[in-house]
Amino acid sequence: MAPETPQKTRKMPEKGLPKNAVIKELETKLQKDFSYDSGKILCSMCTNPHSFAKQIYRKYLEKNLGDPSLFPASAELEQETVTMLGSLLSNPHASGSIVSGGTEANIIALWTARNLAKKKLGEVIVPVSAHHSFDKASDLLNLKLIKVKLNNRFQMDVKATKKAITSKTVAIVGVAGSTGLGVVDPIGELSDLASTNNLYLHVDAAFGGFVLPFFKELGYKALDFDFSLPSVCSITVDPHKMGSSPIPAGGILFRDKSMSESISMKVSYLSGETKESTLLGTRSGASAVAVWALMMHLGTAGYSATVKSCLDLTRKLVKGIKLIDGLDVVTEPIMNIVGIKSDTTDVHLISNELKKHGWAVSLFPEYLRVIVMPHTKTSHIKHFLDNLQTILENLT
Ligand SMILES: Cc1ncc(COP(=O)(O)O)c(C=O)c1O
Repeated sequence: MAPETPQKTRKMPEKGLPKNAVIKELETKLQKDFSYDSGKILCSMCTNPHSFAKQIYRKYLEKNLGDPSLFPASAELEQETVTMLGSLLSNPHASGSIVSGGTEANIIALWTARNLAKKKLGEVIVPVSAHHSFDKASDLLNLKLIKVKLNNRFQMDVKATKKAITSKTVAIVGVAGSTGLGVVDPIGELSDLASTNNLYLHVDAAFGGFVLPFFKELGYKALDFDFSLPSVCSITVDPHKMGSSPIPAGGILFRDKSMSESISMKVSYLSGETKESTLLGTRSGASAVAVWALMMHLGTAGYSATVKSCLDLTRKLVKGIKLIDGLDVVTEPIMNIVGIKSDTTDVHLISNELKKHGWAVSLFPEYLRVIVMPHTKTSHIKHFLDNLQTILENLT
């Protein structure tokens, strides 16, 4: 076993340092981090938050949604945000919370499904492409995760899902914008399956929730994935991904309020009658207020324009990839997530070379993943394709 690198330790200074000295050290230390502005981050579902959202976030840092009796106005804004998100996802009467991210949202969804089902040793059916937050959720909630295979379009296989249903099943999970390839599972068919078997259906649209609602008006094929499908009980939708909001901002939406009652707990020590239906206690009000403000400021037209430019640039990227000898896309992208494969060169080698050029792309076992986020510009994609071309020429 390789020896562990000792962790650098530090003691808090007894006598505080001047602010300038601290800032200087921070600036030096933080230089190692990637920046969105460089365009080199092609592996993240997060982006540089919109400047207006940052301004609002900074202004309301002290707001605590864990104590709504002290911050009732912030709590109301959170609920307005939830209903705005609900409207985007075909249910203006949705209830829920702005949470820390997709992981917390998915945990809350399975927690709710488990409590509603009241089954011992419950099972949850997910596609193998599901985000690892479901592994965390099942571990925490003592649920068994049943992972079903994908069809030839990288979607959750409906026949395999049907076969996996047992008397222990408490929920089916479909993904609308998979982590690896941005694929949308056949949520309509999963909804039928959930309805026939009287099961809870959760949709993880952490990424796709801010992309898919704009497909129809942008001339792309609209895909059914939201509350318009009768069996969809809850949806994860993350403002801190394609919603351009500051981290942390995830969203968990329920078809109606009665569902989250199953996880709601009274908090006795706070002033007022406080009930919590989130994993966290103290939680950021600034996040929720910033999401509210940004949605009000951009409107659906603003978000739609962002999605359009990401999709347009994705097409350019795909075109460029196909022109490079030895490279191809894993599947035609549905949204702004592209899998790149090679029939001539090991993708690990390509990834290593890209790293040397300063690019941050994700490496999956058989492909590289690039996400074209709002911080990605045409010049970045051109530069990336030029580097890819040279790398492939040198490696083959
Ligand atoms: C589909 C999907 N769901 C959930 C998550 C988890 O989100 P977070 O990192 O905000 O917890 C991710 C993250 O990439 C994701 O791709």
